[in-house]
Amino acid sequence: MSYEFILTDTPADGVGLVQLNRPQALNALSMPLLAEVMNALHKFDADDSIGCMILTGNEKAFAAGADIKEMEGKTHIDMFMGESLIDGFDFGKISKPIIAAVSGYALGGGCEIAMSCDMIVASDTALFGQPEINLGIIPGGGGTQRLTRAVGKALAMEMMLTDRRLSAEEAYQFGLVNRVESIEDYLTVAIDIASKVSKKSQVAIKLTKDAINKAYEMTLQEGLEAEKRNFYLSFSSEDKAEGMRAFIEKRKAEWKNR
Ligand code: CAA
Repeated sequence: MSYEFILTDTPADGVGLVQLNRPQALNALSMPLLAEVMNALHKFDADDSIGCMILTGNEKAFAAGADIKEMEGKTHIDMFMGESLIDGFDFGKISKPIIAAVSGYALGGGCEIAMSCDMIVASDTALFGQPEINLGIIPGGGGTQRLTRAVGKALAMEMMLTDRRLSAEEAYQFGLVNRVESIEDYLTVAIDIASKVSKKSQVAIKLTKDAINKAYEMTLQEGLEAEKRNFYLSFSSEDKAEGMRAFIEKRKAEWKNR
């Protein structure tokens, strides 16, 4: 598949990068653009040479939300019958970690796809918000759920009811992002983190991501059971044998990802 609205790259060993590339519309998320994003992420997910992915935009905009011009003429039935951007939000099916490298606007669906990733590295110009209220709609890509879990009910309410936006520094203070870096460095830092992830045992990485995500889906007891199952499962890998042997022999482990 050749892409019209995104660019892909492998900026470091084991790292797959997907860049939204619709700058004239501040990377507004049209359905074709999101389909390309998901296609590229799934391809990297299936590629044994890739251990971690990065989703990024440009310095001015990560993404300014769902494409309002595309949605303007749509009815409930259009959306219900499949002409909805939301149906394309299937980040839950990606098993490898994704890091969002966010600069500039991360609004509406832009904030929501960043929060659908596993970590967020922000530039100091990043701006996070859910301005759907100004359009007479509500967030539909997970904003009411993921933002609330990330920053708590009171701030989430204020953001979604009044269009309060968070600067990168505020987003860091409230736990929405992992790091804030300069605009020159944020992408390099994201690539460095992705590179670190991709050098670990990919079996253990996948099992860890799966177990952490369970914390959002289950009670504590169910989550602890799920963690225990993944922990025991990790004992069946060749990488467990190699990792423990390497520790005892005081050498660097050589992962087989099996
Ligand atoms: N959809 C479609 N086009 C958009 C867009 C969007 N979400 N955001 C920006 N654009 C377009 C503008 O229409 C403009 O195009 P033209 O030059 O053809 O007019 C171009 O991008 C540049 O935008 P601006 O001139 O508005 O740039 P600015 O710097 O003055 O303002 C902004 C930037 C504050 C981000 C402003 O563009 C804005 O408010 N955008 C909309 C943000 C928004 O409401 N997002 C939520 C969308 S709904 C949603 O996401 C639902 C969901 O949960 C899935």
